[in-house]
Amino acid sequence: MSLLRKKSVTQILSDAAEGDSGKLVKTLGVRDLTSFGIAAIIGAGIFSTIGLASYNGGPAVSLLFVFTAIACVFTALSYAQFASTVPVSGSAYTYAYVSFGEIFAWIIGWALILEYAVSNMVVAISWSEYFTSMLAGFGITFPKYFATDYGSASRAYELVQQAKQTGASLSDLPESIRILADAFANAPTLGGLHLIVNLPAGAVTVLITALVYIGIKESRTASNILVLLKLAVILLVICVGAFYVKPANWSPFAPNGVAGVLSGVASVFFAFIGFDSISTTAEECKNPQRDLPRAMLYCLGICTVLYVLITLVLTGMVNYKELGVSDPLAYVFQKVNLDFVAGVIAVSAVVAITSALLVYQLGQPRIWMTMSRDGLLWKRFSTIHPRYKTPSFATIITGILVAVPSMFMDLKFFVDLTSVGTFFAFILVCGGILYLDANGLSAQAKFRVPYINGKYIIGLAFLLVFGYALTGANVLQHMEEKPLLFVFWAVWAVLAVQGFRHNFSLLPVIGVLTNLYLMTELGASNWLIFVGWLAIGLVIYFSYGYRKSKLAGRETISS
Ligand code: ALA
Repeated sequence: MSLLRKKSVTQILSDAAEGDSGKLVKTLGVRDLTSFGIAAIIGAGIFSTIGLASYNGGPAVSLLFVFTAIACVFTALSYAQFASTVPVSGSAYTYAYVSFGEIFAWIIGWALILEYAVSNMVVAISWSEYFTSMLAGFGITFPKYFATDYGSASRAYELVQQAKQTGASLSDLPESIRILADAFANAPTLGGLHLIVNLPAGAVTVLITALVYIGIKESRTASNILVLLKLAVILLVICVGAFYVKPANWSPFAPNGVAGVLSGVASVFFAFIGFDSISTTAEECKNPQRDLPRAMLYCLGICTVLYVLITLVLTGMVNYKELGVSDPLAYVFQKVNLDFVAGVIAVSAVVAITSALLVYQLGQPRIWMTMSRDGLLWKRFSTIHPRYKTPSFATIITGILVAVPSMFMDLKFFVDLTSVGTFFAFILVCGGILYLDANGLSAQAKFRVPYINGKYIIGLAFLLVFGYALTGANVLQHMEEKPLLFVFWAVWAVLAVQGFRHNFSLLPVIGVLTNLYLMTELGASNWLIFVGWLAIGLVIYFSYGYRKSKLAGRETISS
């Protein structure tokens, strides 16, 4: 069936060598890649969203970091095997082209826009928040109406008006609401319209896009410096903070139970997203098949250890109830009267978030470049700048796509949307390894996911866990409350049967299941928005890519 037409590994490698993209500069080594990975992982997540996650889940959120890291390690192993088999820039998109066929590849490419471009809107807005508070630390006041979005400001204004009408005390409203309401009231107007725009978010995106446009070497140097600084500050937080930990704060460990901990899934997962993004630089690596797998595992391992330690330090320094703030790392040091450390952290958050922005601005155009090379996007997306040797047109489009919404929209819910899209991509990448194994393609890989035969284990584990769920809570009622759990159990059951038949490798199966379980925690409304997003993608595919695909004119290579 032509929707499932696949590319062979040989075909992909020869396509990548042809044409413009052969001009990319091969300059990255394992240290650069690990650095890019850390740059992408440590960003807005750990510096801001971890606060609310700890507030809801208590110290036990550190366990959620461990659990999420497990899902990510199995995914990273799968990415690593793919990256060593197909070392081209398309990342999960290319991997799906080899394993599941063109329509899945397109769907993944489309979902990856959520991981890269949409997450970067969140990162740019978060950068703007930290940047303006850093300026405030230096005594410079940046007008709030030029550092937020219209929707947030007008909603806050409405709330304040309602409070005034009901005679409620304004001091009962959170300070952030009062600041936004003032921004709305004081904003300049044009024909009655309040001019509210997030200028720092737009400006930083334009600057970073310019850097990425100019060259991979420049981006690498900038990223390496930013990462060193970022790691130094994170270590400072852990080492200094450790002296202020009061173990009494760790009790109760999970004050709101499992549900409280799991409500932080999107934030915690958001904090991990990024280790996979280095696979988009495969064509600019000196030795991608050796270095990409190593770098992915190194950066994920380093970040996991740092995250767990940071969560323990944060929740040990103050009571979890105090952590519902947007700058938790700086906040806890203010609480113990270390204002200088708090200031250093505020400045470093700006640096940290800048480097995350850089990596995603680098990754998105490279995925588009690969899709365009395959004929699924317009040819211009794969043109390489004659002087800078970067995918110039795709880079500019990424810049516009991220900069414009980040200036005008409140994108908090995009944290969830980014996570749904990324979980989806991760599940397909883990599932893709099962396909490679089943079709004898794993032999070509220079790195392989360690093989443990899951023939019996997957099914036995299903019976045990499902049986336990049946005896404990009322599993049916649970599924009624969370219908997405049905998808989880159903996929596990199918994997158990197929695993028995085909001797599935255990680790990718665990990757599929842990990612899927975490994805079910994101709630049905996010899934629905995600499905809407996919529907738009499919319309574009059928009106362009399906006909223009290079494979449309070639003999289909199918399994
Ligand atoms: N992991 C990235 C961040 O936390 C997306 O900003």
